[in-house]
Amino acid sequence: MQSVWKILSLLLLLLILYGMSCMDLNKSNHSQISGISQPSTPEEKHYQYYCAGCHGVNLNEFVNKDWMFANNPEEIAQIIKQGEDEMGMPAFGKALSDKEINRLTDYILSKSKQLAEAPESDASDQSNQIYDEPEFWVETMVTGLEIPWGLEFLPNGDMLIAERNGTLSRYTSDGKLIQISGLPPVRDRGQGGLMDLQLHPDYSENGWLYISYSYFDDENSGNSNTAIIRARLDSDQLTHIETLYRGKPALSTSHHFGSRIEFDTAGYMYFAIGDRGRRDEFPQSINNSNGKIHRLFDDGRIPPDNPFVGRKGAEESIYSYGHRNPQGLALHPVTKEMWSHEHGPRGGDEINIIQKGENYGWPVISYGINYNGTVFTDDTAKPGMLQPVLYYDPSIAPCGMAFVNSDRYEGWKNNLLIGSLSFQYLERVVIENNEVVHQEKLLDGIGRVRNVRVGPDGYIYVAVEEPGRILRLVPVEE
Ligand code: HEC
Repeated sequence: MQSVWKILSLLLLLLILYGMSCMDLNKSNHSQISGISQPSTPEEKHYQYYCAGCHGVNLNEFVNKDWMFANNPEEIAQIIKQGEDEMGMPAFGKALSDKEINRLTDYILSKSKQLAEAPESDASDQSNQIYDEPEFWVETMVTGLEIPWGLEFLPNGDMLIAERNGTLSRYTSDGKLIQISGLPPVRDRGQGGLMDLQLHPDYSENGWLYISYSYFDDENSGNSNTAIIRARLDSDQLTHIETLYRGKPALSTSHHFGSRIEFDTAGYMYFAIGDRGRRDEFPQSINNSNGKIHRLFDDGRIPPDNPFVGRKGAEESIYSYGHRNPQGLALHPVTKEMWSHEHGPRGGDEINIIQKGENYGWPVISYGINYNGTVFTDDTAKPGMLQPVLYYDPSIAPCGMAFVNSDRYEGWKNNLLIGSLSFQYLERVVIENNEVVHQEKLLDGIGRVRNVRVGPDGYIYVAVEEPGRILRLVPVEE
């Protein structure tokens, strides 16, 4: 029996080494994460290798879980084996034997129970902790949120917060959280729900607030995709709602909605939609909305110089294609170029600079592999497909993105900040001439970072999950 395990662990080790050697070919712009504690048992290894990227290195997603599909060990093992395609849970029946799956199931159940019973570590512990270079402390601004997604700042200093479950609220300067009504029905399922918020660059004149969310195709089908609306705020009520865009086709899948919104200096509105979990069907074809970054006029019209206007069957809002699931979009404060990042598969998250009409290669080229460890492409580069500025292996699960355009943080001007869902930190990226010259972890272990914004007051605001809260980084000198 013991020797079987030895052989299995050896095989796994070889597989990992093989995977690493494959993925290191011509990958100079490659980022590694260190500091994950070494797993010891085979099931711990399996968990860390196959599952941790999505379910959390500390089994976060399984602690105190309301099981949706599985109510007993047999059903859990079944889900692991067959996956839950509509939700984005891959199948592992080819990567793991039934025995390994049963052991993994026992491990998840016992470990998550153990973690649930452990004395609770206070998530706000990190508040008041001082970080260095530059020194700042973390102020907890808002607590009691579900999954905060969109963050925006009104001219009077109030903060708008969109939570994925469909709650839109205004946080006032005197500390009240007031709910805003009038949203259209939001499909809060899987990775979808109420997502990003963005004010029009001339908000103080025209009052337009832009919102992305998962719309219901029709309530009966339950199919969905990302929609963009704009609306005005009147006494904490959305009025003058205009639907500017609806991603097509609507699908029953519950993942990869993308959906950040950003304006450029010419006033065009950009937004991202993920591949909706259908990588072989959508991202490389321009006849649909998925796996794309789109560009529209602020009122939803198609700019006549969009790259695929007039092309037969084309979705004319498309600005760039071949994307997987972009959840970061930010305009560089100096170059005024549009930067984005996207979730890769296992390995292969990317930071990209978005250019008109370009193909970013998903899934023809990728620095990642399938979740179950198998390879879907040998190519990391091909003519006609753009390379990322940086890719991450292992995946950090990037979410939210902002450039530090204020002078509040010494030495951070024009640095890029990126949230990591899976490794639970904020990444600071220093860029010179569109190349990454330094990377650094901030707020390590803070929780799943969903969004980062720099407010009009120049402070960095971070939206974190479990428990849902908004933090602000305050330089110590102040
Ligand atoms: C690509 C991301 C991803 C990976 C990798 C992944 N899962 Fe999942 N898994 C999901 C999603 C999404 C769901 C559905 C939502 C949920 O329950 O969190 C899910 C659901 C599940 C469920 C059912 C939960 C329920 O509520 O009934 C189990 C059990 C599970 N995963 C175990 C695993 C195990 C074990 C691994 C590693 C072998 C793994 N998952 C790897 C994304 C992933």
